[in-house]
Amino acid sequence: MRVVLGVSGGIAAYKAVLLLRLFKEAGHHVRVMPTDAALKFVGAPTWEALSGEPVTTSVFQDVDSVAHVDLGKSAQLLVIAPATADIIARIAAGRADDLLTASILTATCPVVVAPAMHTEMWHNPAIQANIATLKSRGFIVIPPASGRLTGKDTGLGRLPEPEDIFAQAMAAASPVQDLAGKRVIISAGGTQEPLDPVRFLGNRSSGLQGVCLASEAKGRGAHVTLVAANITVPIPDGLDVVQAPSALEMQRAIEGLAGEADIIIMAAAVADFRPQAQVEGKIKKTANEDTMTLTLVKNPDILAGLVAARTNSSQVIVGFAAETGDQDGDVLFHGRAKAIRKAANLLVVNEVGPNIGFGQPTNSVTFVGKDGEVLGTAQGSKREIAREILSRALQLG
Ligand code: C5P
Repeated sequence: MRVVLGVSGGIAAYKAVLLLRLFKEAGHHVRVMPTDAALKFVGAPTWEALSGEPVTTSVFQDVDSVAHVDLGKSAQLLVIAPATADIIARIAAGRADDLLTASILTATCPVVVAPAMHTEMWHNPAIQANIATLKSRGFIVIPPASGRLTGKDTGLGRLPEPEDIFAQAMAAASPVQDLAGKRVIISAGGTQEPLDPVRFLGNRSSGLQGVCLASEAKGRGAHVTLVAANITVPIPDGLDVVQAPSALEMQRAIEGLAGEADIIIMAAAVADFRPQAQVEGKIKKTANEDTMTLTLVKNPDILAGLVAARTNSSQVIVGFAAETGDQDGDVLFHGRAKAIRKAANLLVVNEVGPNIGFGQPTNSVTFVGKDGEVLGTAQGSKREIAREILSRALQLG
């Protein structure tokens, strides 16, 4: 396997030497990419001697081979250990000011980040926000360990042992193929219900949770079809994508595919109502009317329809319930009632509101079974939540 080992400038850089050895002894081809600061801790001759490869920090060397694009693109695993506060910020911002950050931007392989810094730095909201950004983009972050730090102090922030990083990085490079051979349909995004040629009724769903589900399922070997309603986040390559911008289009697309599916996950926010008629020309503002009335009609409940029409008893159907609490009950109260109503195998209940749920990189969910029973909870990046949903769906099949 072609591995790029990024090393940034922290005292734990010495442990990356041992990590390099582990990769080499396991037979991998390793290209070490230190930052300039890393070379103050461990010099280039050490990296070159142990990797058998040249070492540079600059995008201005090997320009004829376009190294700043090529090395990242051809890597099958990219590991950054230790990852300092500074490199984490540069990666989160999408900087390309040295060979390592430029390579990270072109990498399509799993990227594993092992942060190491002082406890106070690790807890700083700026760092935590950057870590959340990295996780939401699919980077695998190995949490720092607790223990002796650089000085006499101890605490959270220590680089995990090279053997641990090696094991986790290798697992990331070849995720378990527990969905191999399964056909998975995932709806994602928010439907737009046309009002006239230029206007629609819509919602704030970005599609991120559904996209994370799709890319995780693909990584675990599934054949994935993403039924996409106005997704505003990037969609990874290699997925079958069917565009379904409105509820009726989504119903048509999903019902056409459902017969073959082993798992269907309805992560899309589908409008419950649509304008009764789509007006042909743009609706005009008239001088003598201060209000306007729209007549809406109910959309089909795609999820409930799939459950009712299911003929294959091992097919697993998962729904979402984006809820807010009200005077009748809290989010879970409404979620459990919905689980019973919809009778999907699993309902993923989450709270939505300003800065919660829609459009956010993280999520906090409760899993509810078809009889309204609470099966568990999960918090974390939408990618972590996606992994948990897929594992639960697999168990239910
Ligand atoms: O009823 P509610 O919209 O809250 O239900 C949410 C779940 O039902 C989601 O999984 C959503 O994708 C699905 N749904 C649907 N068809 C609708 C409305 C929602 O499939 N018309």
